[in-house]
Amino acid sequence: MAGFDLSVTDKLLTTTRAVRKRLDLSRPVPDQIIRDCLELTLQAPTGSNKQGWRWIVVTDAAKRAALADIYREGAGTYLTESQKKAEAAGKVQDGRVYSSAQYLADNLQDAPVHVIPCIRVDHLPPNPPQRVWAGLMGSIMPAVWSFQLALRSRGLGSTLTTLHLSNGEKAADLLGIPEGIMQVGLLPVAYTIGDDFKPARRPPLDDVLHWNAWDGEQA
Ligand SMILES: Cc1cc2nc3c(=O)[nH]c(=O)nc-3n(C[C@H](O)[C@H](O)[C@H](O)COP(=O)(O)O)c2cc1C
Repeated sequence: MAGFDLSVTDKLLTTTRAVRKRLDLSRPVPDQIIRDCLELTLQAPTGSNKQGWRWIVVTDAAKRAALADIYREGAGTYLTESQKKAEAAGKVQDGRVYSSAQYLADNLQDAPVHVIPCIRVDHLPPNPPQRVWAGLMGSIMPAVWSFQLALRSRGLGSTLTTLHLSNGEKAADLLGIPEGIMQVGLLPVAYTIGDDFKPARRPPLDDVLHWNAWDGEQA
């Protein structure tokens, strides 16, 4: 055995959820906790060990309000329309996700901390091929997930969101993010209300697993 308590690590990996309605919007988050969790992200993998990640932490209330406006502008009617469609189609779980996402959109300004993960793209060739995009996302998303796991293990929660990126340039202007730095999301961060999160219901592994060759499922 590698010395890990699997009941703890497996619980962390299976119960780190997108938290929205259970973010405690009234409890302040000490800066040091954010620093500690971000410190852990520095151990995540990056292509060619480039470590092109950059993190923007926003606690300023006026800037959070402005980011929330940008987010809602990006969301438009997408969340409410999607909720209606999901409910009409009897897709209960999807309906809940959209309702929860709308709640976050309505309350984003009140999440005490916003974290915007970014990655340097100033070295990219024009029209980069798929391999380069895969390398870029693969060099920031593992760190984002490390951040979310680190938060969860300290009693905080977050959701990786991307809706503000429809107007990402407005967020860049607001925060002074230079050319050559690409935002990849926005995570509202807060303590969670309770910590009894459960594994999500997911289709079985065998529905998505191909061993040695792609067979059976049509793409
Ligand atoms: C790439 C990506 C983009 C996402 N964008 C948003 C978003 O803009 N707003 C939001 O509320 N949730 C967003 N989510 C959260 C997903 O809705 C959530 O992860 C999914 O419903 C599964 O829920 P779970 O993480 O609790 O298992 C995003 C997740 C990912 C991975």
